[in-house]
Amino acid sequence: MANLKEFFLPLLLTVLIFYSLAFDVVSEDRMFIYYHIHITNDLPSNSILVLHCKSKNRDLGQTSLSLRQDFTFKTEINAWRTTLFFCHVTWDVKQRYFEGFRATRDEYRCKKLQHSCMWSVRGDGIYFSNDNSTWTNEYPW
Ligand SMILES: *[C@@H]1O[C@H](CO)[C@@H](O)[C@H](O)[C@H]1NC(C)=O
Repeated sequence: MANLKEFFLPLLLTVLIFYSLAFDVVSEDRMFIYYHIHITNDLPSNSILVLHCKSKNRDLGQTSLSLRQDFTFKTEINAWRTTLFFCHVTWDVKQRYFEGFRATRDEYRCKKLQHSCMWSVRGDGIYFSNDNSTWTNEYPW
C-alpha cells in the first residue's frame, strides 16, 4: 500500500504538471500572434494629424501624419487579455482619445485580414475596418 502511494502520488503530480505545461503552450501560442494596428490620416484639407498611442507599459511616442500617411504598431495579447492601447489624436481644434487596440474587443474582429485593425481618421470621426473596405464611424467627433 505504501508502495502504491509512493508510486501513485508522484505519477499523479507528473501528469498534472504535464497537463498544465501543455495548456500553457496553448496559451503562449496565442501570445505569439502579433496584431497590426494601422491609423491613417484621412482628414480633409491637408490637416496634419498629431497622434500619440500608449499602453500601460509601452509609450509609442508622438508622431505627426500628413494626408494619407499611416502609423502602424504591433502588439501581442497578454495572457489576461487586458492588452489596451489608448491613442490621442489632435487636428486643428479637435482632439480626443480612442482605444486603438483593446484585446477583448479586437481579438476576433481583427483576425479577418492577417490580424489587422485599421483606423481612418476623418473629418467626422474615427472609422474602423477589419477588411480595409467597409468602414464604420466608431468615434464621431
Ligand atoms: C488598405 O488599402 C489601401 C488602398 O488600397 C492600401 O494602400 C493599404 O496598404 C491597405 N492596408 C492594409 C493594412 O492592407
